[in-house]
Amino acid sequence: MKVLGIETSCDETSAAVVSDGSVLSNIVASQYDVHERFGGVVPELASRRHLETIIPIFSQALDVAAATINDIDGLAVTSCPGLVGALLVGLSAAKGIAMARNIPFIGINHVEGHINAPWIEHPHIPLPSVALIVSGGHTSLYVVEAFGSYRLLGKTRDDAAGEAFDKVGKLLGLGFPGGPAIDKVSVQGNPEAFRFTMPRFTDASPFDFSFSGIKTAAALVLREAVQSHHPSSTLVADLAASFQSTVVDVLVSRLFEATARVHAKSVIISGGVAANRLLRRQVAKQAQEKNIPYFIPSLHYCTDNAAMIAFVGEKYLQQGKHSALNLNASATGDMTR
Ligand code: KG4
Ligand code: ZN
Repeated sequence: MKVLGIETSCDETSAAVVSDGSVLSNIVASQYDVHERFGGVVPELASRRHLETIIPIFSQALDVAAATINDIDGLAVTSCPGLVGALLVGLSAAKGIAMARNIPFIGINHVEGHINAPWIEHPHIPLPSVALIVSGGHTSLYVVEAFGSYRLLGKTRDDAAGEAFDKVGKLLGLGFPGGPAIDKVSVQGNPEAFRFTMPRFTDASPFDFSFSGIKTAAALVLREAVQSHHPSSTLVADLAASFQSTVVDVLVSRLFEATARVHAKSVIISGGVAANRLLRRQVAKQAQEKNIPYFIPSLHYCTDNAAMIAFVGEKYLQQGKHSALNLNASATGDMTR
């Protein structure tokens, strides 16, 4: 079976061809140049750029896979969650192709794509696993019991971790997106220069997160330092490193607490923030100390990509599942089928 995947949920236009679990192509066109000067993703501009890019990207995905549209047996497209206008571009393209070629299509939840991305490179991940999905739009912990069976353990109550990275990056004048920039500049900073505290929920949701407070705290520290008229030359790097280390500590500690709580046999991190080098190092270190296998996708499968969508879609299509042509895009969405 050959499945064409399409992903347009935020600011990456991506198309991929997957065949029997193998990725034959995965083309990603980022829109950083469009949104950079606004310091964040502008939804209307994202939709317009998707519209311009979708057909060339989809043709390129077929070319790289040495396939033509006639070789495609089904389509998988992100239908939720995300920016509705952006999602609609990919969804409409997928429906159009499915109708014209009379082949099935299936709408896929973007988060389910991130959860399953590690399986592209590691087919034998011991289950149950605890998956930490950290991106610009999501920060959630799931227990993965089997393909298609996920139990939410906790999620952010306000900003996603990536959103906090992006906002603090903007505050520090590091441009957009802030995540990779903070990762880079932190190498020169002292992670203990500033002490930030993060909320801990002791009620019925001990695995929930909150990132809006640390963003405000970073803004206050910066303002005080600038007002003191003696900001140190390493202020930006120190603040970036201290912020990053606090966020990573919280993510890693909750991940391993959850792992112990549910007696998981492995851990997974996925999503754009899983590209963060400190997070990857800390997860590797703790997993080795606790003697638990860990799985982190390669960078190009961590950030938004259509390969993970095609990969999940192919499995559902092989089970005979598909979506109706009246499927709509949704800003939110769960993973029940
Ligand atoms: O998964 P993704 O590509 O898109 C969403 O679904 O949101 O994640 C994008 C997010 C952005 O917030 C970006 O700043 C963050 O991932 N990110 C990073 C790094 N690379 C990307 N955050 C921290 N460190 C990185 N190296
Ligand atoms: Zn994502």
